[in-house]
Amino acid sequence: MQLVSTKDELRHHLDAVRMAGRSVGFVPTMGALHEGHLSLVGAATADCDVVVLSIFVNPLQFGADEDLESYPRPRQRDLELAETAGVDVVFTPSPQEMYPGSVFTAVHVAALTSTMEGAARPTHFDGVCTVVTKLFNLVGPCHAYFGEKDYQQLAVVGRMVADLDQPVTVVGCPIVREPDGLALSSRNVHLSGEQREAAGVLHRALRAGATMIAVGEHDGEAVAAHMAEIIGDEPLARLDYATVVDAATLEPLRALARDAEIRLLVAAAFGSTRLLDNVGVTVP
Ligand code: PAJ
Repeated sequence: MQLVSTKDELRHHLDAVRMAGRSVGFVPTMGALHEGHLSLVGAATADCDVVVLSIFVNPLQFGADEDLESYPRPRQRDLELAETAGVDVVFTPSPQEMYPGSVFTAVHVAALTSTMEGAARPTHFDGVCTVVTKLFNLVGPCHAYFGEKDYQQLAVVGRMVADLDQPVTVVGCPIVREPDGLALSSRNVHLSGEQREAAGVLHRALRAGATMIAVGEHDGEAVAAHMAEIIGDEPLARLDYATVVDAATLEPLRALARDAEIRLLVAAAFGSTRLLDNVGVTVP
């Protein structure tokens, strides 16, 4: 496994890879790797000759009062996990390497970004889209792998790639969960024992919502209210949102039409740790 921390070295190395006719797959991450990240690596190694993983805690996508400083950075362990998973190149730039001066250019996706995570974190998606575009430009992948865990991010990045004709295919990958259903997240390490236990409520609420729809509920707002009530009943959870949206447009839905592809999404904080989860449902 090659360890690369400068843009020049990365470009140089990957130019040679492409010149040799080998395909490049890319998995962007902020590190603190877990089985969720590694499932993206697995999908990339199945599709592509050379797999590049980036580890960069992108300051641009954190708000002033968010957890940029405390975001976990277990570098040595990350490198070991990446190597075992079959990553060929790890790109670990410093913030100075990625942003050597002031940043005057941002990529702003004007659809899909005003609700949910965009409402809670107003500058978040500009930061994500800007860094992902820079990383795409540096890596030049033919496929890039994103988790459904951050479902809105996956939709926004897909829109950005389509609108800007970025020459990459975005591949969405299923959510990897703990046995009790909690979605794996780098932020889970911040949960106390009690909070960890309580966090299982997110997936329980989503399952309850999906079950309501499976047995015939056609009112999206009733489903959302039921999920909110379940999370609200957990004393350690502070609900941010529980919503039922169109899987493509992310518009909140009231009437759930037969065969519609919809997504149930929730976010809640446990202490200072904010967690997200979602599930997809086809309306029967
Ligand atoms: P990060 O939170 O490290 O996530 C990197 C990728 O791993 C994302 O595509 C995310 O959806 C996926 N992922 C995280 N947990 C997962 C799980 N339990 N199952 C499946 N996939 C999972 O998302 C980011 O970093 C950043 O915003 C980034 C795209 C790297 C831009 O800075």
